[in-house]
Amino acid sequence: PKERGWSVSHIYNYQGFWAKPRVIQGVIACQQQFQAQDSDIILVTNPKSGTTWLKALLFALVNRVKYPIFEQNHPLLIKNPHDLVPFLELTLYVDGQVPDFSSFTTPRLLSTHLPFASLPKSIQDSNTKLVYLCRNSRDTFISTWHFINNLNLEHKNTNSIGRAFDLFCNGISPYGPFWNHVLDYWKASIEKPNKVIFLMYEEIKEQPKIQIKRLAEFLECPFSEKEENCGVVDEILRMCSFENLSNLEVNINGKLSSGHENKVFFRKGKVGDWKNYFTTEMKEKLNHINEQKFEGSGLKFHYI
Ligand code: A3P
Repeated sequence: PKERGWSVSHIYNYQGFWAKPRVIQGVIACQQQFQAQDSDIILVTNPKSGTTWLKALLFALVNRVKYPIFEQNHPLLIKNPHDLVPFLELTLYVDGQVPDFSSFTTPRLLSTHLPFASLPKSIQDSNTKLVYLCRNSRDTFISTWHFINNLNLEHKNTNSIGRAFDLFCNGISPYGPFWNHVLDYWKASIEKPNKVIFLMYEEIKEQPKIQIKRLAEFLECPFSEKEENCGVVDEILRMCSFENLSNLEVNINGKLSSGHENKVFFRKGKVGDWKNYFTTEMKEKLNHINEQKFEGSGLKFHYI
């Protein structure tokens, strides 16, 4: 069908996942050229799983000595998290560019949406740490649907939720199938707990302090007692909160080099918005697929 946005006519299957040709070009370039360093930290997500939030948290956490958290001119207050933690295939290697890493400090903070099996070989072979963030399939679907519609405002009517939902359920979504993406990183996090940490959007919402401390320990930069007593953890969480980030001037009026307006990365930032859109049939269908796909994996999702 000749549709814009969430359609099958503009995305292709490459190495088992779906993406637009321009994205695939960036993927191939980074697969061929990216040289991971042992100290690299790479955030991996399915699109619309909370990438922007975790980029902010990671940046604040890892750079808290270089950029003290209480400073007025902290980079997170003047730049969008995507500018501070760039995507490999969507930014650094986009259009076959050769990225210049000379301005990066150690550890380099990078991100990707690539499935585990398609990661550049040097990431697999090095001690690079992978931070995986997943979100429940219902909210991920709704967030993706809004994002795609926002980017294609003039074609809004062609992206009916029912059609998009059928495609999502059939595995046809950006970097999908959703389930393979999640499961491969889930398994990797069990097999290699020092290399891959598996985080959930809903768990960070529910217990932010516990989850960010878990992340800091995984990254071998745990919070000291002094930091905790001085409120550093609370301040990182406050600075990176939806309320704070979405109200910053840079995120209201700024743009990324990709041309995306920064505000498109902030919509509601809640768990359970799917309830405002799902019919009973949609809920049952996705429940059934989730049960089938995640059966026996030990992976449990929270829907609130
Ligand atoms: P909603 O569309 O459900 O609101 P990504 O960053 O991977 O593109 O995901 C975007 C989703 O994360 C959007 O979800 C967005 O509102 C939400 N989000 C962005 N910043 C957030 C924050 N600081 N805290 C919680 N959620 C956030």
